[in-house]
Amino acid sequence: MQLGRRLFYDADLSADGSMSCATCHARRHAFADGNRPHPGMTDQPGVRNVPSLANVGAFSTLTWIDQHVTRLDRQFFIPMMGHHPVEMGMPDRTTLVGRIAGNACYRHLFARAFPRAQGRIDADTIATAVALFERTLVSRDSAWDQARQGRVTLKPEAAHGQALPDDDEAALESFLRALTDVHFLHDPALALPPEACPA
Ligand code: HEC
Repeated sequence: MQLGRRLFYDADLSADGSMSCATCHARRHAFADGNRPHPGMTDQPGVRNVPSLANVGAFSTLTWIDQHVTRLDRQFFIPMMGHHPVEMGMPDRTTLVGRIAGNACYRHLFARAFPRAQGRIDADTIATAVALFERTLVSRDSAWDQARQGRVTLKPEAAHGQALPDDDEAALESFLRALTDVHFLHDPALALPPEACPA
């Protein structure tokens, strides 16, 4: 999902252009952020640790405060415009739509992804596009899944979910390899999109 991926990594989605969804949900941490809250755009500290988005498409409720949010395309508006805490600080839907519709590459990608909208971009289609990308964040048959089914034994650090030093890339990789599958960690389709607009 080219369009959703672009939006997910695009800092233009935050009011001051300083942070994208991926700033907090970073791929090298399985789309989470180590193990700590992340401050939002205004430096207002986050209140919860950033959860991984692995398999988020399969969860029945999203967000821990408001268990009523069950759809990814609704959840989108929480980081975008929420105040408790401020994450991306977007004032309203009109500003968001103006940002996206002002970009020639997005106009091209929206027209292609939503042909029936005939080039019209609105906040709901932006949310839908991001949700489609989030549903591709799927991890299946990781070592953790295999261990649960009794097929392998996990290394102790993975089994106990031990805290890892943030700067130890090798330890992080081996930890994530136990908890997610290789596709999820290394598929280029989930990584930062190229700068050039896809044809
Ligand atoms: C400032 C950091 C930050 C930014 C930016 C951010 N998030 Fe989050 N995200 C969080 C935190 C913290 C939570 C957990 C909050 C909660 O559950 O109440 C969360 C939760 C989520 C969840 C629910 C996951 C679950 O397991 O229930 C989804 C989905 C999500 N974010 C998607 C996004 C998308 C899409 C964007 C970009 C539009 C985004 N996030 C931007 C920090 C952030």
